[in-house]
Parts: sequence; structure tokens; C-alpha cells
Amino acid sequence: TRTYVVTGSASGIGAATKGALEAAGHRVIGIDLRGADVEADLSTPEGRAEAAARAIELAGGVVDGAIACAGISAPVPATIAVNYFGVVEVLTHLLPGLAKSDAPRAAVVSSMASLQPNSAELVEAALAGDEARALAVAGELAAQGPEVGYLVYPSSKRALSRWVRRASISPEWAGAGIPLNAVAPGTVITPMTAGLLETPEGRAMVDAAVPMPLNSHQPPESIANLLVWLTSEQNTHMAGQTIYCDGGADATLRGDDI
Ligand code: NAI
Repeated sequence: TRTYVVTGSASGIGAATKGALEAAGHRVIGIDLRGADVEADLSTPEGRAEAAARAIELAGGVVDGAIACAGISAPVPATIAVNYFGVVEVLTHLLPGLAKSDAPRAAVVSSMASLQPNSAELVEAALAGDEARALAVAGELAAQGPEVGYLVYPSSKRALSRWVRRASISPEWAGAGIPLNAVAPGTVITPMTAGLLETPEGRAMVDAAVPMPLNSHQPPESIANLLVWLTSEQNTHMAGQTIYCDGGADATLRGDDI
């Protein structure tokens, strides 16, 4: 039995991941705004630090797996706070717990949106760890309306996938023997997308942006099962990857450009 910390555990992909881990006999400490073992707001530095500290305490000091699913997609500055800083800081605060495991693993949820047009300035501010600047840049984008504001979301995921790539080979992660990877879903059927998938217009918009020739929209379990493998003892050498599990959206959009 392993002990996992899962953020965003109350809904969608996080809830499916918690369910899959528990069905396999593991222990899960969930973090979410509400309806979780640790209730915290990951949009603030204090919320992130407190959530990680409480989760390590509930885990009895040893964290075998850390999985960050919490995220939002609204065209607002909070999206960079939750999706980037809320992931990077929680994982970093969990490092002392992971260090006590004999087989520590970590994974995060990026998105195929990490390949979409984004704001290079916002990606750079995030990767520099400058949350004040990132929030200011995101605020400027959001002020230009929802279409430009939408750029905050792909920017948060591009920055996250790039952070995973860099951090995974650093002394803190590779040096501590912790495989760190990301998964990139296509369109997953969860409360995040429910509103959009409700109407034919919304579905057409989503499908134009995220073409999924293989099996169309995916259940959260399709991502949960991948997260379970990435954070299992079986994964000894995969590091720094963003695994596109997206019904072929990446293969369609990026084609030969790899
Ligand atoms: P969801 O809305 O069902 O679940 C997200 C969870 O994160 C919720 O329980 C929510 O309360 C929690 N959360 C949001 N803000 C928080 C905060 N400030 N502090 C603590 N918890 C917070 O969404 P879903 O679809 O399960 O999304 C999970 C992840 O998957 C997100 O990172 C999302 O960007 C990503 N993703 C989702 C896709 C989709 O089509 N649904 C596609 C690609 C990526």
C-alpha cells in the first residue's frame, strides 16, 4: 500500500484518480477547496504551503506519490495562480514527504492546450517564479476580453509542461530519485467542460480546437489510469515528459512537427 496526495480530488480527473488509487488498495489524501481531507485554496502561497504541510502530517510524514490535478480554465488571472503556481509550489512543498518514500513519484495534469497559441511573456514570468508579474500580465490579457483572456489557460499549461521538463532533471527531483511527468488530456467529460459540451455550438467550438479522431471525448478514467501508472513503482525511468492522452489531438494538430 502506498500513500498518495492528490490535488483537485473532489471532482473530475482528480476524483477519478483518487478512486482508481483507492480501488488498487492505496491510501489517498485529497486536497481541494471543499469536500476533501485537506480543504485549501491553492490560488494563494499560504494555501499551498498549509495544504502541503497538512497533507504530509496526515500521511504520517511519508508521501509515496504526489499528483496535481487541481485547475481552472476561466479567462482570468487566477488561472495562472492555480494551474501553474498551485501545482509547482504544492509539489515543491511535498518534497520532504516524498524524500522519505522508497519509491517516490510525481505527476501533474497539463493539457493539449499547452500546444495552443499562448503569451510568451506570461510563460516566462511563471517559469521565473514571479507570481506578481505573472498575475499582472494575466490581468492585462483578461482586461482585453475573454478571447485574449483565454490565452492565460494555454500559457499556464505551456509553462507547467516546460517546468516539468526542467525540474525533472534537477537535483531536487532526478537527484532525489523522483520521476516527474505530466499528462496532457484532450477534451475530458468533467464539470469543467460540461457547460461547453451541452450545446451543439459549444461542442463544435471545442471539437475545432481539440480534434479527437480516436474515440472522441474521453472519460476522466482515461487520464486517471495513466496518472496511476506514472506514479507507480513500475515507472523507474520516464522523466520530464508530457504524455498526450488526447484521442489523437496532438498527432492531428502537430503532425510531423516533433
Ligand atoms: P474539475 O473542475 O472537474 O476539477 C477541478 C478541481 O480542482 C475541482 O474539484 C476544483 O474545486 C479544484 N480547484 C480549482 N481551483 C482550486 C483552488 N484554488 N484550490 C484548490 N482546488 C481547486 O476539472 P477537471 O476537468 O477534472 O480538471 C482537472 C485538471 O485537468 C485541470 O488542471 C484541467 O486544466 C485539466 N484538463 C482538463 C481537461 C478537460 O477537458 N476537462 C482537458 C485538459 C486538461
